[in-house]
Amino acid sequence: MSQTDVAAAFAALEAHRVEIGHRRIVDLFAEDHTRFDRYQVRLDDLLFDYSKHRINDATLAHLMTLARAADLEGKRDDLFSGAKINTTEDRAVLHMALRNMSGRGYFVDDQPVMPDILAERRKVNDFASAIREGAIVGATGSYFTDVVNIGIGGSDLGPAMAAKALSTFGVSGIRVHFVSNVDGADLTDTLAMLDPAQTLFIISSKTFTTQETMTNAHSARRFVAAALGEEAVSDHFAAVSTRLDLVEQFGIKPDRVFGFWDWVGGRYSIWSSIGLALTIAIGPKHFEDFLRGAYEVDQHFEQTPLHENIPVLMGLLGVWYRNVWGFGSHAVIPYDQRLSRFPAYLQQLDMESNGKSVMRDGSPVMRATAPVIWGEPGTNGQHAFFQMLHQGTDVIPVDFLVAARPTVADEYHHTLLVSNCLAQSEALMRGRSREEVETLLRAQGMSEARIAELAPHKVFEGNRPSSTFLYRQLTPNMLGRLVALYEHKVFVQSAIWNINAFDQWGVELGKELCGRLVPIVNDARVSTAQLDDSTAGLIQHRRALLAG
Ligand code: F6P
Repeated sequence: MSQTDVAAAFAALEAHRVEIGHRRIVDLFAEDHTRFDRYQVRLDDLLFDYSKHRINDATLAHLMTLARAADLEGKRDDLFSGAKINTTEDRAVLHMALRNMSGRGYFVDDQPVMPDILAERRKVNDFASAIREGAIVGATGSYFTDVVNIGIGGSDLGPAMAAKALSTFGVSGIRVHFVSNVDGADLTDTLAMLDPAQTLFIISSKTFTTQETMTNAHSARRFVAAALGEEAVSDHFAAVSTRLDLVEQFGIKPDRVFGFWDWVGGRYSIWSSIGLALTIAIGPKHFEDFLRGAYEVDQHFEQTPLHENIPVLMGLLGVWYRNVWGFGSHAVIPYDQRLSRFPAYLQQLDMESNGKSVMRDGSPVMRATAPVIWGEPGTNGQHAFFQMLHQGTDVIPVDFLVAARPTVADEYHHTLLVSNCLAQSEALMRGRSREEVETLLRAQGMSEARIAELAPHKVFEGNRPSSTFLYRQLTPNMLGRLVALYEHKVFVQSAIWNINAFDQWGVELGKELCGRLVPIVNDARVSTAQLDDSTAGLIQHRRALLAG
């Protein structure tokens, strides 16, 4: 592979877009009654429907040529091999090992990693079971009724998203809360609901240095110490981190510290001990099902030919729209209230991974990378931003996710939910022409003058692309599948763009500047002279507000 081959593949795609750009998806369906059957992939009960896209067989062939030109298969092999593909941090990327359910060995620096993974998982499971069963209690002898995970980014979004998604599984009577923001309101509002004697705090931080997490951790420590005494602290805290030295300094008992490894990226860490709060919420067996779902997707991604490979198709369709059509954002709309945090989870996964401007060798990227990922559950989104999806000037490809059957809900509610989901993807594709609008208005007896005024407002351009993921039910296994599908989709796109999806240097500058500002913001006597005029002016205005 070479960048020249990739450029040639993109040039072919661009020429192809000119050829098929005027074709409407509805016409493609009309011409080919096998389209739905051919443009779908099934993974057991999960059906990935990609028939409502601006593609035909030639598009797919061009996209496969692009994937081969970018050596997607070779890069995928490197990923699974434990090679240090995160070159800027000199790290392997092996979150797949955390959910490996086969006897396969994974190695980093020629050392097997599975024995440590399994030992750590056992420790997490034992601790979670003991908390759930009341075998481990607080300093006063009370059972834990509440668990608070304190973490941010990958140490929060995954377990928080999944605990909500799977809230009906493995219920034990223990409530699990997530505190992430350095805004004290987050912790204060959570603590207001809690009895310190019955609360366990889990400090989740890969680095154990993150400002937000450590600030919240120390405040939570004071909350426990104030209510129960300093000696009670060790009974009410556990930690998940790769920095066991720093955890020890915080004063957490060694048998309550759960490790993971630098080859697990923060946004890929839900499968590791970072899943402790989730394991307490849903129980070890359901957590195992969650891992298994992801493992099944790993096998699918690694072994299935590119043209039938769901993450490959997801990734390539995204590249087609981002680079060839120039669409700048991508919506993920779960028709599932319990997946309400899924879009936020995907924002970190996708945008922290692929929000890059240089290629692996440090040279500028040749084309646009990560689109803006966003979304909200349906049907709520329909009454908020769907107007723009249907009639706005931007075309925004959508992923719809919906279960055939609810986990716990009235069947009729679910009938309405599914109908809404299908209606939206149909409406986006079909649109409504001027002619159709005029016919409808005429049938209502409207005057020709009023029809001429109103018709342009009621026209839907249509031809707006979407994928639909339809599965039996949102179980732990299915959630594991969905998350792993998106993880590998992000990897596929990084391979096409030849970028490192596993570092995140872009978050560093803000952290550094914040460190410099804290003493200035904290003390009105400190000069603002060395700051830019805007930052200095804002600090001075705040000082005036506080003084007034
Ligand atoms: O802000 C970026 C980031 O490093 C994320 O990549 C990470 O998930 C998050 O901060 C939290 O980091 P940690 O787990 O080390 O506290």
